[in-house]
Amino acid sequence: MSVSFDLTGKVAVITGGAGILCSEMARQLAESGVSVAILDLFGDKAEKVAEEITAKGGRAIGVQADVLDKNSLINARDRVLKEFGRVDILINGAGGNKKEATTSDDMSFFDIPLEALQWVFNLNFMGTVLTTQVFGRVMAEQGSGSIINISSMSSLTPLTRVVGYSAAKAAVNNFTQWIAVYMNQNYSTNIRVNAIAPGFLLTQQNYYLLVDEKTGQDTERGKAIKKNTPMGRYGKPEELIGAIIWLASDASSFVNGVVIPIDGGFSAFSGV
Ligand SMILES: NC(=O)c1ccc[n+]([C@@H]2O[C@H](COP(=O)([O-])OP(=O)(O)OC[C@H]3O[C@@H](n4cnc5c(N)ncnc54)[C@H](O)[C@@H]3O)[C@@H](O)[C@H]2O)c1
Repeated sequence: MSVSFDLTGKVAVITGGAGILCSEMARQLAESGVSVAILDLFGDKAEKVAEEITAKGGRAIGVQADVLDKNSLINARDRVLKEFGRVDILINGAGGNKKEATTSDDMSFFDIPLEALQWVFNLNFMGTVLTTQVFGRVMAEQGSGSIINISSMSSLTPLTRVVGYSAAKAAVNNFTQWIAVYMNQNYSTNIRVNAIAPGFLLTQQNYYLLVDEKTGQDTERGKAIKKNTPMGRYGKPEELIGAIIWLASDASSFVNGVVIPIDGGFSAFSGV
């Protein structure tokens, strides 16, 4: 058997598809011959990414969808099925943290508002669950598919400060295992569910934590990250793509229910 990374003709749905990491995934999958549905809370941004892809000869649509609203996801699913007819790959990328759910000199854990924690937990965890209910059902009916959840380093050993985000991403890992088994036992052994846990990539989401806005230098946290990343640098969004193509394709046909760290060695290093 020859190993195939070929994705030509497949259909991918990517939530948070207008964001920094997932828009890069959308572009690269489209270049690999995948028809891409870019779902995002901000429909105009999703359409912009889709237009960029179609201008280069790829197949893409931008669809407004809220991963916390099942009806909105069902409408998005109907649109995707009308345009592309099936769903082979689902990337649950919508997620993020917010300042109000993060401890700091001005915010102790004891004072973090419940609503802020709930916001972060819902977006990262419930958004993944709800989206998998809607698009996972399409895969269950088809009898095939690859779901890729976007976890985080903070899911393995929690990072300081981001309490709700860490808990939510840990829940995403647990759900990745649970739904992988459920799909196989109840629907098809041709459905696989995995996650990637990106290490530290400098993006809009974490810029305020890692770079001093006044000086442009690394914050103490930024310095600590680089010191604890054996490769000594932040990752780049495009460095996630190899794993995405591998997990989406038949090249990973026996890989199921796992969380792949993409972290420059961060999770392998004890600091000593
Ligand atoms: N940036 C990093 O270093 C890093 C590291 C580890 C994990 N992650 C994870 O990767 C994923 C993408 O992160 P990013 O850095 O590209 O973030 P980003 O903020 O650039 O993108 C997130 C996208 O999700 C969309 N979104 C927000 N709420 C939504 C909702 N309710 N419904 C649909 N879409 C919604 C936003 O509009 C945005 O386009 C997230 O799950 C994040 O937690 C990021």
